[in-house]
Amino acid sequence: MSTGGLIRIDLLVAVVAAAAWVGAGVCAALRRAPLAAALAGVAVLVSLGRVAVVAVLAGRGWWFVVEKVTVGLPLLIIAAGIAAVAAGPTLLRAVRSGATDTVAGAVAGPKVVVPLLTAGSAAVVGVGLTFLVGYGVTWSVGLISVALVAFAALITWRSVAPGESAAGRRAGVATLAAAIVAVVGIGLAFVPVSDVDTGGGPAEDHNAAPRAVSTLRGPDPAAAPAGVAVRRFTLTAQQGTVTLSSGTRVPAWTFNGTVPGPALTAEQGDLVEVTLRNTDIAAGVTIHWHGYDVPAAEDGAAGLTQDPVHPGGEYVYRFLARQTGTYWYHTHEVSDRGVKMGLYGTLVVTPRGAAPAGLELTLPVHTFTGVAALGTNDGTETRTVAPGTPVRLRLINTDNASHRLAVAGVPARLVAIDGSDVNEPGELGDRALRLPGGGRYDVAFTMPTGPTGGVALLVDDNRDRGLRLTPEGVAPGPVAATASWPALDLLDYGRPAPAALDTSVEPNRRFTLVVDRNFVASDLPPRYAYTVNGRAFPGIPPQRVREGDLVEMTVVNRGLDIHPWHLHGHHVLVLSRDGRATTGAPLLMDTFEVRPGEVWRVAFRADNPGLWMSHCHNLSHTDRGMMLILAYDGITGPLHSAHSG
Ligand code: C2O
Ligand code: CU
Repeated sequence: MSTGGLIRIDLLVAVVAAAAWVGAGVCAALRRAPLAAALAGVAVLVSLGRVAVVAVLAGRGWWFVVEKVTVGLPLLIIAAGIAAVAAGPTLLRAVRSGATDTVAGAVAGPKVVVPLLTAGSAAVVGVGLTFLVGYGVTWSVGLISVALVAFAALITWRSVAPGESAAGRRAGVATLAAAIVAVVGIGLAFVPVSDVDTGGGPAEDHNAAPRAVSTLRGPDPAAAPAGVAVRRFTLTAQQGTVTLSSGTRVPAWTFNGTVPGPALTAEQGDLVEVTLRNTDIAAGVTIHWHGYDVPAAEDGAAGLTQDPVHPGGEYVYRFLARQTGTYWYHTHEVSDRGVKMGLYGTLVVTPRGAAPAGLELTLPVHTFTGVAALGTNDGTETRTVAPGTPVRLRLINTDNASHRLAVAGVPARLVAIDGSDVNEPGELGDRALRLPGGGRYDVAFTMPTGPTGGVALLVDDNRDRGLRLTPEGVAPGPVAATASWPALDLLDYGRPAPAALDTSVEPNRRFTLVVDRNFVASDLPPRYAYTVNGRAFPGIPPQRVREGDLVEMTVVNRGLDIHPWHLHGHHVLVLSRDGRATTGAPLLMDTFEVRPGEVWRVAFRADNPGLWMSHCHNLSHTDRGMMLILAYDGITGPLHSAHSG
């Protein structure tokens, strides 16, 4: 059973247990003795079941069960135990002797109803803990939970047993005690928690001369060494319309009037200079070079490395094209809306002097009005390709959700992931590729000879759309059904080779990001957010590193959503997923998909000083809190200084 499956089962069991306890209490109060007894029996069994599920889940990692083991289950076990002892004998008698009036009366009395409903409230609090608090459990949360259950018990006592004066006095004392516990718990919620995460490394060196992030610019073309070619582009953000191949017209935010924006290309070693202008995008625009490890002030992280460019404004980005491969650019101001509306384009850097042989297609997958299009092709595009032609498809997912991509009709290879070449990639066979939001895959093959129906590229196994490549004079044949193809596992794809990062040495810092969805009360206004370690941006402590550090990052998904994690300015080497180490080619990524219940361990070298965003690339999750800052010692900036004082 997958960890994600266990997380779902635990939630289900927790809800059923709560419903059974509450149902038993209500039936008892309504004098429905047999039903109350039956539900109480179910409640006991399901509660024991939950203990078992949590025990199994704990084996997958403490992150998945912390709030259950420390607060939820102890409360449930104590309350259920009291209920079994206090109410059990009466309920059993009721079942044995049939529902006589005296028995029904006893069952409806406080000694049965109150413990059953208290167990019910403990079970409800347990569900609430997992759903609302999750990994962010604290003393405060624990005390508030205890107080909630105590108040629930007192309220039921008051309503079931009015007018018993000795009990009334005891209830008064208990109310006071519960109120004190609640007040202490609420008070603790305001105790400030650490505002920086050093990952076990040294704290900030305050003697180093601070540098503003805005000074970390790329090279000036005027001072470029001889032999460095300067590639200049101007990208103007403006409102417009995109016309898809089907003729559908969609209102859009464009760069230079098109969606995707201009396809930028460069050769390795070139100096790229891009002037961004904004005509009429009122929300503001920046350009982030996704996967391109540029100097920090060129990164386009609005609010962190630059202010957004408003209508009439301008910003010039400059960077050396050091990395080859497939990348993309997109706005990083109100990015969820901006990217959906069309403010993105492709960036391809080829090795110097190696003009691509054969056919190369750069294909961003983007969803327009519910249809996943390749570029602007929302139907089927057919191209004629001579047999024997080398073909390279550069696939980019510009959406929030992942897409399944399949190449049918030819043995293809996944030759690059997130811009980095794969060492000795094998044939994919009948395997699909799951491309995370923000990620890129380059797929290569040789156009087959002979009487084949041609090659098809399918998005999400949809045979009615996509790309068809056929030899001259050959009509596209029927396309294979790819829906049953398993997805390629990147962890054992390709052949091992020495990685760019030496991970035989111990990392200096270790960060753990437990991602989930919770209620965040520390922010104003309180909200149901996408969280990291129980908190939401900007309340997540920045992770502090020093230049040269070897950093290990563990990302744990304890929720039910998929989170494609993206770190700006760095590539990470994947070490393991769910404890299973990579056995294929070194896997360098800038966006890796952490599915429910998964635990990814990755490492990177802190070799690009700056302030960097680290976030989920489902941009609607980013928007709702799932982002934090990786901050280098000595680098100052607006958000950073606002945060650590
Ligand atoms: Cu492509 Cu911060 O993202
Ligand atoms: Cu996410």
